Amino acid sequence: MKSHIIPPAQRLIVALDVRGRNEALGLVERLRPYGLAHVKVGMSLFYEAGMGLVEELREQGLSVFVDLKLHDIPETVARTVDVLVKGGANFLNVHTLGGLEMMKRAAEQAKYSSDAMGIEPITLIGVTMLTSHRSETLKAELHISTPLSEQVLHLAQLAKNAGLDGVVCSAQEAHPLKEALGSEFLKVTPGIRPSSYTEHDDQHRIVTPALAIQQGATHLVVGRPIYGAKHPEEAFSQILAEITQAD
Ligand code: C5P
Repeated sequence: MKSHIIPPAQRLIVALDVRGRNEALGLVERLRPYGLAHVKVGMSLFYEAGMGLVEELREQGLSVFVDLKLHDIPETVARTVDVLVKGGANFLNVHTLGGLEMMKRAAEQAKYSSDAMGIEPITLIGVTMLTSHRSETLKAELHISTPLSEQVLHLAQLAKNAGLDGVVCSAQEAHPLKEALGSEFLKVTPGIRPSSYTEHDDQHRIVTPALAIQQGATHLVVGRPIYGAKHPEEAFSQILAEITQAD
C-alpha cells in the first residue's frame, strides 16, 4: 500500500519468529479473530518452512512481509526479488548497504514482476541500520564513525533515490526521516516494546507503540511482545488499540 492512509491493522506487522509452519499457522489462527492483517516471515521461519508457507498465508488474505534483508550483487538480488514476488510476497526488503545500483535493480524488478503477475506493485523497503546496533558498536566494530542518526538518514535518502517505498528504521529515527523524506515514504519500525513488557533483550533503540506512531512510524513490527506473551491475543489487541488511538 503506497498511501500514508493505512488501516491500523495493516500497520501492525506481527513477526512470526516461531519454529516451523505449524507453530506459525497456529499463532495466525489465534490472532486472526482479533484483526490480524499483516505478518512477517523472517529468515529462520523462511529457511525452515519456505515459500509454501508464504503462499498459505497469502491464501488466508494476509499481507506477507518476507524479511530476508537481501544483500548481494544487483543481478542476484533482482533475480531473488522476482522469485519472491512470484511466490506471493507483497512486502520485501533489501539492505541499503548493498548500494544504489543494487536497490535500483531491486525496485525495477519488483515493479516488473508485479506487472507480470497482474498485481499491484509490491512494497519494497530498505534496511538502514539494525535496531540492535548502537553508535558505539558502529564505531568500534564496523569503523562507521558517522553518528547513527546521520547514517540512517543518509541511507534512507539513498533508498528513496533508488525508488524504494520506504525503510526499516528505529522509531526513534522516524520523525527526522518524516521531516526529510515526507510522510508517504514508509517508516517500518521494529524495536517496539509496550510499557507492560519488562523483559530485556537484544533490541536497544526501543519505543512504545503509541510513541512510534506519534514519531511518524507507518508500520510497527512486533515479535516477542506478542508471540512470547502468555496470552498473545491480549497482547496483540492491546497494541492494536494503542496504534488506533495514537493514529
Ligand atoms: O521480537 P522483536 O519484537 O524484537 O522482533 C523484531 C523483528 O523485527 C524481528 O523479526 C527482527 O528480525 C526484525 N528486525 C529488527 N531490526 C531491523 C530489521 C528487522 O529487529 N532493523
